[in-house]
Amino acid sequence: MSQSSFDEHIVVLADSDRKHAASVVSFLSSNGLKVVVASDAAHIFKMFEQLNPDAIIADLQLESFDILDFIITTRKRLSSVPIIITSFPEDVDLAVQAVQQGAFDYLLKPYRPEILLKKINHALQSVHLAKQNSMFGELVSLHDITNRLLSTHTLDELLDITFNDCLQILKADEGVLQLLNHDSGKLYTVRKKEASSGSGLVRLETVATKAFSGCCSVLVADYHVAMPANMLFDTDGIYTCVSSPLMFNNEVIGVVALRRIEGRGVFTGTDVKVIDMFASHAGIAIRNADMYRSINQKLDEQMLISNYSEQLMGVVDKYDVIRFLFETAIEHFHLDFIGFLVLQRRTHEFLFWSRGPVDDASMKKILKYVAEEYSGFSNMVINEKRISAKEFKVHMKPVPGETRLPFNFQHLVPVGGDDFRFGAAYFGAARDFHNVNEKKALLSGIAGQTCIALRNSKIYSDMKENYIKTIKALAIAVDAKDTYTHGHSENVMNIAEAIALEMNIDERQVGIIRDAGLLHDIGKIGIPGYILNKPGPLTFEEFNGIMKTHSALGANIVKDVPFLRDLYKLILYHHEHYNGAGYPDGLKGEQIPVGARVLHVADAFEAMTSNRPYRNSLDKKEAIKRLCENSGRQFDPVIIDAFLRVAGRKGWI
Ligand SMILES: [Fe+2]
Ligand SMILES: [Fe+2]
Repeated sequence: MSQSSFDEHIVVLADSDRKHAASVVSFLSSNGLKVVVASDAAHIFKMFEQLNPDAIIADLQLESFDILDFIITTRKRLSSVPIIITSFPEDVDLAVQAVQQGAFDYLLKPYRPEILLKKINHALQSVHLAKQNSMFGELVSLHDITNRLLSTHTLDELLDITFNDCLQILKADEGVLQLLNHDSGKLYTVRKKEASSGSGLVRLETVATKAFSGCCSVLVADYHVAMPANMLFDTDGIYTCVSSPLMFNNEVIGVVALRRIEGRGVFTGTDVKVIDMFASHAGIAIRNADMYRSINQKLDEQMLISNYSEQLMGVVDKYDVIRFLFETAIEHFHLDFIGFLVLQRRTHEFLFWSRGPVDDASMKKILKYVAEEYSGFSNMVINEKRISAKEFKVHMKPVPGETRLPFNFQHLVPVGGDDFRFGAAYFGAARDFHNVNEKKALLSGIAGQTCIALRNSKIYSDMKENYIKTIKALAIAVDAKDTYTHGHSENVMNIAEAIALEMNIDERQVGIIRDAGLLHDIGKIGIPGYILNKPGPLTFEEFNGIMKTHSALGANIVKDVPFLRDLYKLILYHHEHYNGAGYPDGLKGEQIPVGARVLHVADAFEAMTSNRPYRNSLDKKEAIKRLCENSGRQFDPVIIDAFLRVAGRKGWI
């Protein structure tokens, strides 16, 4: 260390010989040191607090000066400051003892100031090197930790690394790591370590709160008042707690607090620098991980809503829609309870479904609250009507002029905007949610989709009902148009259904065969009445050119209607023959859909047993005989067998 680098270094000189002291001060000052003279030990300690000196030169001949006491006390307050003892040769033993106790060096009087300067220089260099070494060691550790912090994006792992490394690097026995809950503005503990079951954690949380609210690191002496860290750098003391806020972009996102138990030493200003540096790295890493988690969560949520709405598209039954909402919400949010209310604007009624334990009183409270928010009226009479085990229909009747209800449901989600336009969802769990606002937003998203699905379900079922009514009316109109085939469609429907059931065809297919039976001749709507009602056989042209087109005409009518699409092939092929001699495409055997083969048998039997313009009806036995004669040719033998069993039961044979 060169002499010029002594600038700003403060040396306290305590010497019993004032004249000698003056000459030493003059020499040291001319060499760049700032020298302060102290008259006795008490004076030196005062200097500590005011000046924070870099070296002390103390004379053994000072009045009432116990050098060993002095060294012990100094070490407690300033662990690293070098002390150089000056003594006369007769006190050399004591001077040696002082060195053994922790003094840096000694110098025998009388000495030349140049020699003292060399010893001070040496002492300052040693202290500087020791500090560099210690800081270097800490930086190496910090470097390792920073790398480790950067190596993971998992919040849990980061919290482990931050907390455990903090404890280790600062040789702490106890600690807490807390993060800020942005919703509540409060800290919550994510990691903690307690040396023994004492009050250490409570103290640590208090210290953490100080660092959090002051936005700066603090050193705290247990049982004593905290002091701002920047006042304490390079000052040793009896500080056993240290805490630092975790910062990101000048915002506090959490806090770490550490404690050493009695007998394990104290924290210094250097420790504060280390924890500060550590906390700033950890703050950035944790915030990044949190943002990463949050982005992933947002993507997952978008995906959830998008998948949810996609999956709902195919669901048309309103109970299935509600069940799907509950299953998704309970699984995704780990809920114990969920309720869903939908407002029926036309009737001013709420439909209410719930799953999980909710008592009647809570349910009424929720209903009242939602109704009030929706209607703007402060109170209403609720008439409840249980519709099924899971559904309540609630009629609300506004009573104006009363005070607004004071309820505030934390987990109530309006559906359709803040004004509860469509209703509301309510959810709860036995435990607390940390990010309840995020959950509410997401639930609001899927509840909104549910409302749309319910509305669509209603439209769909209304539409299907209306369409079926229209088609039935058409089928009846077709039968009525053909004066000889009155009731034909309905009879074919019933016979075909009986055959299908006899064949153990699955329930859904039986429904399709039944509907196709009713509508199989719907295409005759496009066949002129003079052909349908011709009182004799049709000409070749009339039959092949006109009559045969009715199956394709009928298929075309149903093909673009979503809920009739399944009837298409059955209507199109109901005149195909098992041996390939039928129309319109001449399909054979298994190429013809089984439903169409069933219809063909039912249609033939019904046609033979009813009057036609060109012939009278056959009796049932004769008709069955003809069916059997054509089994394996015009008709599928398997279906004829099933028909015979049905006919047997009905007494037609
Ligand atoms: Fe037909
Ligand atoms: Fe027919």
